[in-house]
Amino acid sequence: MIAVPRSSQYSEKSANSLAAHLHALCTPATQIAFLCCPTAFVAFQHRAALPGARLLEVDQRFAVLAPRQFVPYDIDEPADVPAALHGAVEIAVADPPFLNEVTNAKLRTTLRKILHPTKGRLVLLTSTSVEEVLAKVYDAPPLGPLRRTAFDPEHGQLANSFACWGSWAGAESFGLEEGREKKEEP
Ligand SMILES: C[S@@+](CC[C@H](N)C(=O)[O-])C[C@H]1O[C@@H](n2cnc3c(N)ncnc32)[C@H](O)[C@@H]1O
Repeated sequence: MIAVPRSSQYSEKSANSLAAHLHALCTPATQIAFLCCPTAFVAFQHRAALPGARLLEVDQRFAVLAPRQFVPYDIDEPADVPAALHGAVEIAVADPPFLNEVTNAKLRTTLRKILHPTKGRLVLLTSTSVEEVLAKVYDAPPLGPLRRTAFDPEHGQLANSFACWGSWAGAESFGLEEGREKKEEP
């Protein structure tokens, strides 16, 4: 993997597991966008490439990996996203580059633009150190309220404790192994 420092990359096992759980939410026609998480995008497409997958990322080197699916994106210009994505994204997967409220508020601006107003789901991977910020920033559908999921992201060498949140009813079971997920259904 180019560009993402090894310390902030998901481990291969974690990226593959995330890809499997995301695919379980998708059909072949799903519009899914990965924001600031190139390792997750690569693992997802490697498992089974979807034509509706996009990678929104500032590092242009990822354009080489997926020229048709790469969307140049700078979180400091959060409203600057292609019109074709407005209200079109059914699943957004995001890992904000900085752990603070300002960055999450910028991400919210983007997500409000691109997420489908009724079908939209957010999968947010970030540090538990910003858990209080999340409740404040992602407070209304389709971005929130966020539920902490069962998926446990692992990184190369990152010391921060990371977790994964989802914005839909039942998101708590995202990340459970298939057998357990079925048992916990009513
Ligand atoms: C903390 S890393 C998360 C990487 C993720 N764990 C993975 O393995 O794919 C954040 C990502 O945000 C990207 N990034 C940094 N500054 C950015 C900006 N201003 N706008 C958009 N993305 C940015 C980095 O290039 C990096 O890919």
